[in-house]
Amino acid sequence: MALMDKHAILEKNATLLLAGSFLVVTIGGIVEIAPLFYLENTIEKVEGMRPYSPLELAGRNIYVREGCYVCHSQMIRPFRDEVERYGHYSLAAESMYDHPFQWGSKRTGPDLARIGDRYSNDWHVQHLIEPRSVVPESIMPSYAFLRDTPLAVKNFSTHLVANARLGVPYDENMIENAEKDLKQQADPNADTSGVEERYPKVKLGDFDGNPQALTEMDALVAYLQMLGTLVNFSTYDEAAGYR
Ligand code: HEC
Repeated sequence: MALMDKHAILEKNATLLLAGSFLVVTIGGIVEIAPLFYLENTIEKVEGMRPYSPLELAGRNIYVREGCYVCHSQMIRPFRDEVERYGHYSLAAESMYDHPFQWGSKRTGPDLARIGDRYSNDWHVQHLIEPRSVVPESIMPSYAFLRDTPLAVKNFSTHLVANARLGVPYDENMIENAEKDLKQQADPNADTSGVEERYPKVKLGDFDGNPQALTEMDALVAYLQMLGTLVNFSTYDEAAGYR
């Protein structure tokens, strides 16, 4: 009871209450913020993250251009319902090469952070052409035109250069081979040893169901099929993650 009486003094004096609140918020702020200055790195050390292959990067550009982020997030939160539905919660490392990041704040459709390998290429193409043909109740718009739009390949290396300036570790070799890698990743008959060496785990082949043409659909599906598949979670140590 004595303590409550003392608290009444605080509550009856506006200035004292303000000073007290300020003190509490300051302590709370320091406790939250100060450790960040002593952590060497707030991005987990993981195996498997690499810059996007040129075709994936082209697909990502289309994703951003078309505003897919308006309806789809790419950030699985560390809550049980999300982890059970989408898979391991997203790590900071998984978006460290994203400029801009695609976390999003709206889920009209499902989170796409781990959509890679969930469906076949054919499913994605069909779904993007006419979502209601595979998910009858879908309200997602149709993106059929992507399949008829040739992918702009010329000078694509400039996109790698721009990302490299922002800190993405694209090396000279990757930049020099960008246009070649972009075409070869989607060409079932190409020699793909170069693109495979530069971009481990890269998915190869014709993505849009039309091997004759390199289209925006190829790029977007290549991007979707890679999402969330790079990090090797069998060697990821959660406790040591932030060392
Ligand atoms: C107007 C909102 C809206 C926009 C814009 C939109 N989507 Fe969707 N998307 C949805 C909804 C709703 C669903 C769930 C129903 C379905 O599967 O079609 C969905 C589902 C999906 C799925 C299947 C996810 C799963 O886990 O089954 C993929 C992949 C997808 N969208 C990709 C895209 C891409 C790529 C774009 C941009 C080219 C895009 N969406 C734009 C609303 C949207």
